[in-house]
Amino acid sequence: MGGLAVTTRNLSRSYVRGGRTIEVLREINLRLEPASFTVLTGPSGAGKSTLLHLLGTLDRPTAGEILYDTLPAPDKKDRELAAFRREKIGFIFQFHHLLPEFSALENVLMPTWIAGKDREDKEWARTLLEEVGLGERLDHKPSELSGGEQQRVAVARALVMKPALLLADEPTGNLDSHTGLEVFTLLQTLSGRFQMTCLVTTHNDALAKKADRHIAMDDGQIR
Ligand SMILES: Nc1ncnc2c1ncn2[C@@H]1O[C@H](COP(=O)(O)OP(=O)(O)OP(=O)(O)O)[C@@H](O)[C@H]1O
Ligand SMILES: [Mg+2]
Repeated sequence: MGGLAVTTRNLSRSYVRGGRTIEVLREINLRLEPASFTVLTGPSGAGKSTLLHLLGTLDRPTAGEILYDTLPAPDKKDRELAAFRREKIGFIFQFHHLLPEFSALENVLMPTWIAGKDREDKEWARTLLEEVGLGERLDHKPSELSGGEQQRVAVARALVMKPALLLADEPTGNLDSHTGLEVFTLLQTLSGRFQMTCLVTTHNDALAKKADRHIAMDDGQIR
């Protein structure tokens, strides 16, 4: 898959509300090395999710820029941005967002269906579900899976397009500590195996200690 280098230059995001400007991210300069695994922590409201949204091209900075390898993301007006995001970036959220009517295998395949007719790769989706320990659960609907299993399906789905950058926003936030550790370790193992650049937020300091690199944020800045 090959990890993407991500560099931010004075990355800022603010919101204007009721005539007041709220500075949520203040001139963040950050570099994620290709294939590195980084954990991001910080108190609620620090700006972690905002940063991940920007890095994932789901939101646009108010000032500053993000370079992927050495290039900015394609312009938003361009349909290429959606393609860039789809091809390069995998997302995992606190809530799994699996589609209830579809099986585990179908949920994992979903991004490939969205990408185009000939992108489906059942063999790879099956391999990923085996990797996350769900080889025996391919036909189960989300409601027929435990919380940890649902989140492992979401991990497999995030990897199905072989992203170069994996962004996970509190992927273990809804799991008990044992299952959370399992899912976190799985992310670490798979990101190493597939050489993905990986940024994971958590409120769990024990997990943060396990990463190659730990970044702490507070009040819109890296500390
Ligand atoms: N659309 C918006 N308009 C105004 N302020 C916003 C908006 N979205 C987020 N914020 C503010 O930005 C700040 C950072 O929010 P963010 O969701 O990035 O925090 P977080 O570090 O992810 O927190 P948590 O740990 O609770 O998930 C918060 O103070 C929030 O109120
Ligand atoms: Mg958040």
